[in-house]
Amino acid sequence: MTSEVVENEFEFYSKAEKYWKDVPATVDGMLGGYGHISSIDINSSRKFLQRFLRDGPNRTGTTCALDCGAGIGRITKRLLLPLFKTVDMVDVTEDFLTKARSYLGEEGRRVRNYFCCGLQDFSPEPNSYDVIWIQWVIGHLTDNHLSDFLKRCRAGLRPNGIVVIKDNMAQEGVIMDDVDSSVCRDLDVVRKIIRRAGLHLLAEERQENFPDEIYHVYTFAMR
Ligand SMILES: C[S@@+](CC[C@H](N)C(=O)[O-])C[C@H]1O[C@@H](n2cnc3c(N)ncnc32)[C@H](O)[C@@H]1O
Repeated sequence: MTSEVVENEFEFYSKAEKYWKDVPATVDGMLGGYGHISSIDINSSRKFLQRFLRDGPNRTGTTCALDCGAGIGRITKRLLLPLFKTVDMVDVTEDFLTKARSYLGEEGRRVRNYFCCGLQDFSPEPNSYDVIWIQWVIGHLTDNHLSDFLKRCRAGLRPNGIVVIKDNMAQEGVIMDDVDSSVCRDLDVVRKIIRRAGLHLLAEERQENFPDEIYHVYTFAMR
């Protein structure tokens, strides 16, 4: 649990904000120097997501997606804008959202809102999103804030909508990273938080073909 590793919640958030302010607004910056794995990541995410967008009675819509902890819009640009009519982005770092306006190019016109806000304070508009994508940012929230945020995401879904988490998973327990002020949780802890938020898992997949030295990365779809 984060309560065991996060000593001071105020510092946990302010240190992270300070860390991201100094990170270059580039794909490499978003991925901590692993910019070269961006294409593998996006291609797997597209395959994962497309199974929910296929025809069928419970098909997930393609009207609007929300990119959470969006940074400069790496995922918005290559995964979400090609699949959804409009996209909203939310991130705590103002400079990244400013950079997104040029990084996204012409297609960026279909980004409806750039919300500059910490996810712990953000409420998606109820009944608004077909997909809420949350990648490489849950470690910046405490367990309680993450569970409460996921509850608000659930309310933000349109019929047949899904919430997707894609993130690093620890082998065991909760590991603190003092450099960027984040935690890495194991699979059981993440599943527990998802359940606590009242969400049900629809799919869970381990990312393949990532470098051996980094954390295992898992994708979860839920509603
Ligand atoms: C590792 S980057 C990932 C960016 C993007 N999801 C991607 O995969 O390219 C983490 C992002 O989370 C943002 N972030 C950190 N703490 C946050 C918080 N509490 N609420 C919202 N965004 C946060 C940072 O500004 C940064 O853009």
